[in-house]
Amino acid sequence: MPARIAVLVSGSGTNLQALLDAPDPAYEVVGVLSDRADAHGLVRAQHRGIPVEVVDLGDSTDRSAWDARLAEALQAWEPDWVVCAGFMRILGPCVLAAFPSRIVNTHPALLPAFPGAHAVRDALAYGVRVTGCTVHLVDAGVDTGPILDQRVVCIRDDDDEESLHERIKVEERAMLVETVQRLCQHGCTVDGRKATIP
Ligand code: GAR
Repeated sequence: MPARIAVLVSGSGTNLQALLDAPDPAYEVVGVLSDRADAHGLVRAQHRGIPVEVVDLGDSTDRSAWDARLAEALQAWEPDWVVCAGFMRILGPCVLAAFPSRIVNTHPALLPAFPGAHAVRDALAYGVRVTGCTVHLVDAGVDTGPILDQRVVCIRDDDDEESLHERIKVEERAMLVETVQRLCQHGCTVDGRKATIP
């Protein structure tokens, strides 16, 4: 039986598309959820006949109500894993409690450097010569959970935020698909900060 995964997106959804296009996936994408009704990732899911849901923070009375609605919507799909693929909001305690050590995030920097929403811009502004991407388990912090994999991308003198982000995303898509495949086949163990896929 393939593992059931739910994917969270806020934007264009090219990481989602890579998950959908992977050959011989060990998973089935059972639902795609966004905090934004205009996220193009939702269209990508609909093209494949995958159920979609929008849980907009602005439609909830406060952040904890939004968190509860998000948890409820995800639980309805009974996913084994939840994958944040360009989801630009911090998950709350209801969602984290519903899927302990079962939520994965992809981030466009070599964590713990440059967490947050502007990782590529921040890396360029700092002047680092290498950056990259990280896939990690989600905990209550901002991009602080145990790291599953990382890939390095060199920064070129003429890079701007867009060109660098595009090169990072090439590595990121391959890394995310490979990591989700391995997680769905083998699971993972967590010992403090060390996450291992056997
Ligand atoms: C990806 O680079 C992902 O790492 C980033 O958004 C992009 C989404 O691309 N996420 C974050 O910055 C989260 N802090 P996509 O919509 O084309 O998959």
